[in-house]
Amino acid sequence: MKVITKTNRLQKITQIALLNKNTIGFIPTMGALHEGHLTLIQQAQKENNIVIVSIFVNPKQFNSIKDFNRYPQPIEQDKALIRDYADYLFYPSVEGMYPDGFQSSVHVGKLAETLEGEHRPGHFDGMATVVLKLLHMCVPTRTYFGLKDYQQYLIVKQMVKDLNLPIKIVGVPTIREESKLALSSRNQLLSLHDKTSAAQIFSALQNGKELIMGGERDVRTIEKTIKTKLEPISKKIDYVAVRSLSLEAITSVNQDVVILVALYVGDIRLIDNIIVRF
Ligand code: PAF
Repeated sequence: MKVITKTNRLQKITQIALLNKNTIGFIPTMGALHEGHLTLIQQAQKENNIVIVSIFVNPKQFNSIKDFNRYPQPIEQDKALIRDYADYLFYPSVEGMYPDGFQSSVHVGKLAETLEGEHRPGHFDGMATVVLKLLHMCVPTRTYFGLKDYQQYLIVKQMVKDLNLPIKIVGVPTIREESKLALSSRNQLLSLHDKTSAAQIFSALQNGKELIMGGERDVRTIEKTIKTKLEPISKKIDYVAVRSLSLEAITSVNQDVVILVALYVGDIRLIDNIIVRF
């Protein structure tokens, strides 16, 4: 695995790779890599000739400097984990990605203004901006996103469609710990006690799914039941939402839906979701 830190070097490599008719699989990450990332990388390895992973803790998508500063950055551990699976690791500096005078931004509309967008103003603009920059540099054939960040996945798909980028966005199902807690880089910040509590998130989602499968159709009733299950483990629940698969608000369940939650366990904000298909 070659480590590249300069944007122009990466662009040279990807241009040559494309001229040689390679397919490129790209996995954008913020590091603190875990089995979930590894699953994306391994899938990319199966489906492409060349695999590029990026690690960049993007300051533009954090809502608070505290959250940015405490984001784990175990770079040597990350390199060791992906060494055998990735051909290139792109690991740029903040100055390299946002040189002095940088002033452009991507804004995705309605889809980015709900749920996470409501609770984390500016987050998706920062995310979409960095992803677009990375896509231009990597020129991937396929780019892989975990479905744990379901809204992020839909936003990137929308951006790629709106801006006519010839890139396939692949959504990969969430990988969970044995306790069913969704793997996330933020789990490293949870105390042992909070990690045990956080395992209740999936069981609450599962409960919502069972209600729907058992015939409950009223969205408010389903959301209320899930919220009641989550209250004992969280001092702040940002949302519990039953939505259409394209994240439109609905009042009654008569199509496939996704149930999404965002909540604090201790002072760590976690998100998760479950798709319910009939
Ligand atoms: O999901 C993430 O880790 C980030 O939002 C991403 C896609 C790498 C952009 O910084």
